[in-house]
Amino acid sequence: MNQKSNLKELKHLVDKLSSEHSLSKDEWIRLITGRTPALLEYLFSSAREERCRYYGHDVYIRGLIEFTNYCRNDCFYCGIRKSNPNIFRYRLSEEDILSCCHAGYNLGFRTFVLQGGEDAYYTDDRIVRLVSCIKSRYPDCAVTLSIGEKSYDSYQRFFDAGADRYLLRHETYDAQHYSRLHPPSLTAAARQECLWHLKEIGYQVGTGFMVGSPYQTPEHLAEDMLFIKELNPQMVGIGPFIVHHETPFADKESGSLELTLFMLGLLRLMLPKILLPATTALGTIHPEGRELGILAGANVVMPNLSPTSVRKDYSLYDNKICTGDEAAECRRSLEKRMESIGYQVVTARGDSLN
Ligand code: 5AD
Repeated sequence: MNQKSNLKELKHLVDKLSSEHSLSKDEWIRLITGRTPALLEYLFSSAREERCRYYGHDVYIRGLIEFTNYCRNDCFYCGIRKSNPNIFRYRLSEEDILSCCHAGYNLGFRTFVLQGGEDAYYTDDRIVRLVSCIKSRYPDCAVTLSIGEKSYDSYQRFFDAGADRYLLRHETYDAQHYSRLHPPSLTAAARQECLWHLKEIGYQVGTGFMVGSPYQTPEHLAEDMLFIKELNPQMVGIGPFIVHHETPFADKESGSLELTLFMLGLLRLMLPKILLPATTALGTIHPEGRELGILAGANVVMPNLSPTSVRKDYSLYDNKICTGDEAAECRRSLEKRMESIGYQVVTARGDSLN
Protein backbone atom coordinates (compact mmCIF):
# COMPACT_ATOMS: atom_id res chain seq x y z
CA MET A 1 0.00 0.00 0.00
CA ASN A 2 1.36 3.44 -0.79
CA GLN A 3 1.74 6.10 1.89
CA LYS A 4 -1.27 8.12 0.80
CA SER A 5 -3.88 5.39 0.83
CA ASN A 6 -2.38 4.15 4.08
CA LEU A 7 -2.88 7.58 5.67
CA LYS A 8 -6.43 7.67 4.38
CA GLU A 9 -7.20 4.29 5.90
CA LEU A 10 -5.68 5.26 9.25
CA LYS A 11 -7.56 8.59 9.35
CA HIS A 12 -10.68 6.59 8.73
CA LEU A 13 -9.87 4.50 11.83
CA VAL A 14 -9.41 7.68 13.88
CA ASP A 15 -12.81 8.89 12.64
CA LYS A 16 -14.33 5.58 13.56
CA LEU A 17 -12.83 5.81 17.04
CA SER A 18 -14.25 9.36 17.36
CA SER A 19 -17.74 8.27 16.51
CA GLU A 20 -17.91 4.78 18.02
CA HIS A 21 -15.40 5.14 20.88
CA SER A 22 -14.05 1.67 20.36
CA LEU A 23 -11.96 -0.38 17.94
CA SER A 24 -11.11 -4.03 17.53
CA LYS A 25 -7.75 -5.36 18.60
CA ASP A 26 -6.55 -5.52 15.00
CA GLU A 27 -7.62 -1.97 14.38
CA TRP A 28 -5.72 -0.74 17.44
CA ILE A 29 -2.63 -2.56 16.23
CA ARG A 30 -2.97 -1.08 12.72
CA LEU A 31 -3.23 2.43 14.11
CA ILE A 32 -0.32 2.04 16.50
CA THR A 33 2.04 0.40 14.01
CA GLY A 34 1.03 2.57 11.03
CA ARG A 35 1.22 5.98 12.71
CA THR A 36 2.99 8.84 10.92
CA PRO A 37 3.51 12.51 11.83
CA ALA A 38 0.56 13.45 9.60
CA LEU A 39 -1.68 10.99 11.40
CA LEU A 40 -0.56 12.34 14.78
CA GLU A 41 -1.61 15.86 13.80
CA TYR A 42 -4.95 14.56 12.61
CA LEU A 43 -5.50 12.59 15.83
CA PHE A 44 -4.47 15.45 18.14
CA SER A 45 -6.83 17.88 16.49
CA SER A 46 -9.78 15.47 16.94
CA ALA A 47 -8.70 14.79 20.52
CA ARG A 48 -8.54 18.52 21.34
CA GLU A 49 -11.98 19.03 19.86
CA GLU A 50 -13.34 16.23 21.98
CA ARG A 51 -11.79 17.45 25.24
CA CYS A 52 -13.00 21.00 24.54
CA ARG A 53 -16.53 19.75 24.08
CA TYR A 54 -16.57 18.58 27.71
CA TYR A 55 -13.86 20.48 29.54
CA GLY A 56 -13.22 23.60 27.45
CA HIS A 57 -9.70 24.89 27.90
CA ASP A 58 -9.63 24.15 31.62
CA VAL A 59 -6.74 22.23 33.11
CA TYR A 60 -7.30 20.64 36.52
CA ILE A 61 -4.52 20.52 39.05
CA ARG A 62 -3.89 17.82 41.65
CA GLY A 63 -1.56 18.34 44.57
CA LEU A 64 0.69 15.29 44.70
CA ILE A 65 2.08 14.33 48.09
CA GLU A 66 4.66 11.56 47.84
CA PHE A 67 4.48 10.59 51.47
CA THR A 68 6.68 7.49 51.65
CA ASN A 69 9.28 5.91 49.42
CA TYR A 70 9.51 2.69 51.44
CA CYS A 71 8.16 -0.14 49.31
CA ARG A 72 7.82 -3.86 49.88
CA ASN A 73 7.67 -4.53 46.13
CA ASP A 74 10.48 -5.07 43.70
CA CYS A 75 9.18 -3.91 40.33
CA PHE A 76 12.02 -4.18 37.83
CA TYR A 77 11.51 -0.68 36.42
CA CYS A 78 11.07 1.33 39.59
CA GLY A 79 13.77 3.25 41.43
CA ILE A 80 12.12 2.88 44.85
CA ARG A 81 11.96 -0.94 44.58
CA LYS A 82 12.90 -2.61 47.83
CA SER A 83 16.20 -3.98 46.61
CA ASN A 84 17.60 -0.61 45.70
CA PRO A 85 19.93 0.02 48.66
CA ASN A 86 21.20 3.30 47.26
CA ILE A 87 18.32 5.59 47.99
CA PHE A 88 17.58 7.48 51.13
CA ARG A 89 14.29 6.17 52.51
CA TYR A 90 11.85 8.61 54.06
CA ARG A 91 8.30 8.77 55.23
CA LEU A 92 6.38 11.93 56.04
CA SER A 93 4.56 12.09 59.35
CA GLU A 94 0.86 12.80 59.56
CA GLU A 95 1.75 16.31 60.62
CA ASP A 96 4.06 16.79 57.60
CA ILE A 97 1.33 15.60 55.27
CA LEU A 98 -1.24 17.92 56.80
CA SER A 99 1.10 20.84 56.40
CA CYS A 100 1.52 19.98 52.69
CA CYS A 101 -2.28 20.03 52.42
CA HIS A 102 -2.42 23.37 54.21
CA ALA A 103 0.10 24.93 51.84
CA GLY A 104 -1.63 23.31 48.87
CA TYR A 105 -5.06 24.53 49.89
CA ASN A 106 -3.79 28.10 50.04
CA LEU A 107 -2.37 27.69 46.54
CA GLY A 108 -5.79 26.69 45.22
CA PHE A 109 -5.50 22.91 45.21
CA ARG A 110 -8.81 21.10 45.79
CA THR A 111 -7.52 17.58 45.24
CA PHE A 112 -4.79 15.96 47.28
CA VAL A 113 -3.19 12.81 45.94
CA LEU A 114 -1.48 10.73 48.59
CA GLN A 115 0.98 8.55 46.77
CA GLY A 116 3.50 6.18 48.24
CA GLY A 117 5.25 2.88 48.03
CA GLU A 118 3.60 -0.11 49.70
CA ASP A 119 4.87 0.76 53.15
CA ALA A 120 3.85 -1.43 56.12
CA TYR A 121 4.31 1.47 58.52
CA TYR A 122 1.26 3.05 56.96
CA THR A 123 -1.26 0.56 58.30
CA ASP A 124 -4.93 0.75 57.36
CA ASP A 125 -5.63 2.48 60.67
CA ARG A 126 -3.08 5.17 59.93
CA ILE A 127 -4.42 5.73 56.40
CA VAL A 128 -7.97 5.89 57.72
CA ARG A 129 -6.96 8.47 60.28
CA LEU A 130 -5.11 10.52 57.75
CA VAL A 131 -7.96 10.50 55.23
CA SER A 132 -10.57 11.38 57.88
CA CYS A 133 -8.42 14.18 59.13
CA ILE A 134 -7.85 15.71 55.69
CA LYS A 135 -11.53 15.39 54.81
CA SER A 136 -12.65 17.03 58.03
CA ARG A 137 -10.25 19.94 57.61
CA TYR A 138 -10.92 20.37 53.89
CA PRO A 139 -14.45 19.14 53.21
CA ASP A 140 -14.45 20.85 49.81
CA CYS A 141 -11.44 18.83 48.65
CA ALA A 142 -11.16 15.42 47.04
CA VAL A 143 -8.71 12.91 48.45
CA THR A 144 -7.08 10.49 46.06
CA LEU A 145 -5.11 7.50 47.29
CA SER A 146 -2.35 5.85 45.30
CA ILE A 147 -0.87 3.30 47.67
CA GLY A 148 -0.98 0.07 45.72
CA GLU A 149 -2.63 -3.28 46.13
CA LYS A 150 -4.79 -3.78 49.24
CA SER A 151 -7.61 -6.10 50.27
CA TYR A 152 -11.22 -5.33 49.45
CA ASP A 153 -11.82 -4.59 53.12
CA SER A 154 -8.98 -2.10 53.29
CA TYR A 155 -10.21 -0.29 50.19
CA GLN A 156 -13.67 -0.22 51.73
CA ARG A 157 -12.35 1.25 54.97
CA PHE A 158 -10.46 4.02 53.17
CA PHE A 159 -13.56 4.79 51.15
CA ASP A 160 -15.73 4.92 54.27
CA ALA A 161 -13.20 7.29 55.81
CA GLY A 162 -13.83 9.66 52.91
CA ALA A 163 -11.35 8.80 50.16
CA ASP A 164 -12.92 9.79 46.85
CA ARG A 165 -10.54 8.44 44.24
CA TYR A 166 -7.92 5.75 43.81
CA LEU A 167 -5.08 5.50 41.33
CA LEU A 168 -3.67 2.10 40.50
CA ARG A 169 -2.11 1.66 37.11
CA HIS A 170 -2.63 -1.81 35.67
CA GLU A 171 0.88 -1.30 34.16
CA THR A 172 0.26 -3.80 31.33
CA TYR A 173 -2.72 -6.05 30.69
CA ASP A 174 -0.88 -9.02 29.24
CA ALA A 175 0.04 -11.52 31.97
CA GLN A 176 3.28 -12.60 30.35
CA HIS A 177 4.44 -9.07 29.73
CA TYR A 178 3.46 -8.22 33.30
CA SER A 179 5.68 -11.03 34.54
CA ARG A 180 8.66 -9.60 32.66
CA LEU A 181 8.26 -6.30 34.51
CA HIS A 182 7.56 -7.64 37.98
CA PRO A 183 8.76 -10.36 40.36
CA PRO A 184 6.63 -13.53 40.63
CA SER A 185 4.89 -12.24 43.77
CA LEU A 186 3.02 -9.71 41.63
CA THR A 187 0.56 -10.74 38.93
CA ALA A 188 -1.53 -9.00 36.31
CA ALA A 189 -4.61 -10.86 37.57
CA ALA A 190 -4.21 -9.61 41.15
CA ARG A 191 -3.64 -6.08 39.91
CA GLN A 192 -6.74 -6.13 37.75
CA GLU A 193 -8.81 -7.64 40.52
CA CYS A 194 -7.94 -4.68 42.75
CA LEU A 195 -9.23 -2.33 40.06
CA TRP A 196 -12.56 -4.14 39.86
CA HIS A 197 -12.84 -4.01 43.64
CA LEU A 198 -12.18 -0.28 43.67
CA LYS A 199 -14.88 0.26 41.07
CA GLU A 200 -17.37 -1.88 42.92
CA ILE A 201 -16.81 0.05 46.13
CA GLY A 202 -17.59 3.29 44.34
CA TYR A 203 -14.26 5.08 43.97
CA GLN A 204 -13.52 7.28 41.01
CA VAL A 205 -10.85 4.98 39.63
CA GLY A 206 -7.69 5.73 37.70
CA THR A 207 -5.66 3.12 35.90
CA GLY A 208 -2.92 3.35 33.29
CA PHE A 209 0.30 2.00 31.90
CA MET A 210 3.82 2.94 30.93
CA VAL A 211 4.48 3.56 27.26
CA GLY A 212 7.58 1.91 25.87
CA SER A 213 8.23 -0.34 28.83
CA PRO A 214 10.75 -3.11 28.07
CA TYR A 215 9.37 -5.91 25.87
CA GLN A 216 6.17 -3.99 25.13
CA THR A 217 4.65 -4.61 21.68
CA PRO A 218 1.84 -2.87 19.79
CA GLU A 219 -0.29 -5.89 20.61
CA HIS A 220 0.21 -5.25 24.33
CA LEU A 221 -0.84 -1.64 23.88
CA ALA A 222 -3.92 -2.78 21.95
CA GLU A 223 -4.83 -5.04 24.86
CA ASP A 224 -4.29 -2.16 27.29
CA MET A 225 -6.78 -0.10 25.32
CA LEU A 226 -9.34 -2.92 25.29
CA PHE A 227 -8.94 -3.45 29.02
CA ILE A 228 -9.34 0.26 29.77
CA LYS A 229 -12.44 0.37 27.61
CA GLU A 230 -13.92 -2.50 29.58
CA LEU A 231 -12.97 -1.09 32.98
CA ASN A 232 -14.29 2.34 32.00
CA PRO A 233 -12.29 4.24 34.63
CA GLN A 234 -12.68 7.93 35.43
CA MET A 235 -8.95 8.63 35.04
CA VAL A 236 -6.10 7.17 33.03
CA GLY A 237 -2.47 7.97 33.82
CA ILE A 238 0.08 7.12 31.18
CA GLY A 239 3.65 8.23 30.77
CA PRO A 240 6.79 7.02 29.06
CA PHE A 241 8.85 4.37 30.78
CA ILE A 242 12.06 6.11 31.85
CA VAL A 243 15.21 4.24 32.78
CA HIS A 244 16.34 4.32 36.39
CA HIS A 245 20.04 3.57 36.58
CA GLU A 246 19.82 1.46 39.75
CA THR A 247 17.25 -1.06 38.55
CA PRO A 248 17.48 -4.28 36.52
CA PHE A 249 16.32 -2.17 33.55
CA ALA A 250 19.27 0.21 33.72
CA ASP A 251 20.35 -0.79 30.21
CA LYS A 252 16.93 -0.61 28.56
CA GLU A 253 15.66 2.18 26.38
CA SER A 254 13.16 4.74 27.59
CA GLY A 255 9.77 5.12 25.94
CA SER A 256 9.22 7.84 23.36
CA LEU A 257 7.48 11.17 23.55
CA GLU A 258 5.82 10.57 20.24
CA LEU A 259 4.19 7.24 21.12
CA THR A 260 3.09 8.55 24.52
CA LEU A 261 1.38 11.54 22.92
CA PHE A 262 -0.22 9.26 20.35
CA MET A 263 -1.66 7.01 23.09
CA LEU A 264 -2.96 10.09 24.95
CA GLY A 265 -4.85 11.21 21.85
CA LEU A 266 -6.31 7.73 21.37
CA LEU A 267 -7.42 7.57 25.00
CA ARG A 268 -9.20 10.92 24.69
CA LEU A 269 -11.18 9.66 21.70
CA MET A 270 -11.95 6.30 23.27
CA LEU A 271 -13.20 7.78 26.56
CA PRO A 272 -14.04 11.43 25.75
CA LYS A 273 -14.88 12.42 29.33
CA ILE A 274 -11.80 10.88 30.89
CA LEU A 275 -9.53 12.86 33.21
CA LEU A 276 -6.18 12.49 31.56
CA PRO A 277 -3.00 13.85 33.13
CA ALA A 278 -0.01 15.15 31.24
CA THR A 279 2.35 13.34 33.60
CA THR A 280 5.61 14.31 35.23
CA ALA A 281 7.30 11.51 33.29
CA LEU A 282 6.15 13.18 30.06
CA GLY A 283 7.57 16.48 31.31
CA THR A 284 10.81 14.67 32.12
CA ILE A 285 11.54 13.24 28.66
CA HIS A 286 10.91 16.56 26.90
CA PRO A 287 11.07 20.16 28.20
CA GLU A 288 7.59 20.87 26.80
CA GLY A 289 6.25 17.37 27.36
CA ARG A 290 3.33 18.42 29.52
CA GLU A 291 2.24 21.19 27.15
CA LEU A 292 2.39 18.72 24.27
CA GLY A 293 0.37 16.28 26.37
CA ILE A 294 -2.37 18.87 26.85
CA LEU A 295 -2.32 19.59 23.11
CA ALA A 296 -2.71 15.85 22.46
CA GLY A 297 -5.88 15.65 24.59
CA ALA A 298 -4.83 15.61 28.26
CA ASN A 299 -6.57 17.90 30.78
CA VAL A 300 -4.90 17.39 34.16
CA VAL A 301 -1.51 18.22 35.66
CA MET A 302 -0.23 16.99 38.99
CA PRO A 303 2.35 19.30 40.52
CA ASN A 304 4.25 18.17 43.55
CA LEU A 305 3.40 19.39 47.05
CA SER A 306 5.94 17.23 48.88
CA PRO A 307 8.56 19.09 50.91
CA THR A 308 11.56 19.91 48.73
CA SER A 309 13.82 18.12 51.20
CA VAL A 310 12.46 14.71 50.12
CA ARG A 311 11.57 15.36 46.47
CA LYS A 312 14.72 13.90 45.00
CA ASP A 313 14.28 10.71 47.00
CA TYR A 314 10.97 9.80 45.36
CA SER A 315 12.98 8.70 42.37
CA LEU A 316 10.90 6.28 40.33
CA TYR A 317 13.10 7.11 37.31
CA ASP A 318 16.14 9.21 36.43
CA ASN A 319 16.16 13.01 36.00
CA LYS A 320 12.66 13.62 37.35
CA ILE A 321 11.71 17.29 36.94
CA CYS A 322 10.74 19.83 39.60
CA THR A 323 12.72 18.17 42.35
CA GLY A 324 14.03 21.54 43.53
CA ASP A 325 10.97 23.76 43.21
CA GLU A 326 8.72 24.85 46.04
CA ALA A 327 5.04 23.97 45.58
CA ALA A 328 4.15 27.58 44.91
CA GLU A 329 6.81 27.80 42.23
CA CYS A 330 5.61 24.59 40.52
CA ARG A 331 2.08 25.92 40.54
CA ARG A 332 3.04 29.28 39.04
CA SER A 333 5.29 27.80 36.41
CA LEU A 334 2.59 25.37 35.31
CA GLU A 335 0.07 28.15 35.13
CA LYS A 336 2.39 30.08 32.81
CA ARG A 337 3.09 27.02 30.73
CA MET A 338 -0.61 26.31 30.28
CA GLU A 339 -1.36 29.95 29.44
CA SER A 340 1.37 29.90 26.82
CA ILE A 341 -0.61 27.30 24.87
CA GLY A 342 -4.04 28.87 25.44
CA TYR A 343 -5.25 26.84 28.41
CA GLN A 344 -5.98 27.86 31.99
CA VAL A 345 -5.33 26.13 35.27
CA VAL A 346 -8.52 26.05 37.33
CA THR A 347 -9.18 25.72 41.03
CA ALA A 348 -11.89 23.11 41.19
CA ARG A 349 -12.16 19.58 42.44
CA GLY A 350 -12.35 18.51 38.82
CA ASP A 351 -14.53 15.45 39.20
CA SER A 352 -15.00 13.24 36.22
CA LEU A 353 -18.11 13.75 34.10
CA ASN A 354 -18.73 10.02 33.77
N1 5AD B 1 9.45 5.13 34.41
C1 5AD B 1 8.20 5.62 34.25
N2 5AD B 1 7.19 5.41 35.09
C2 5AD B 1 7.45 4.67 36.18
N3 5AD B 1 6.66 4.28 37.19
C3 5AD B 1 7.41 3.57 38.05
N4 5AD B 1 8.66 3.47 37.62
C4 5AD B 1 8.73 4.15 36.45
C5 5AD B 1 9.76 4.39 35.50
N5 5AD B 1 10.99 3.91 35.66
C6 5AD B 1 5.22 4.55 37.19
C7 5AD B 1 4.42 3.26 37.33
C8 5AD B 1 3.65 3.47 38.62
C9 5AD B 1 3.64 4.96 38.77
C10 5AD B 1 3.45 5.45 40.17
O1 5AD B 1 4.89 5.37 38.28
O2 5AD B 1 3.53 3.13 36.24
O3 5AD B 1 2.35 2.93 38.61
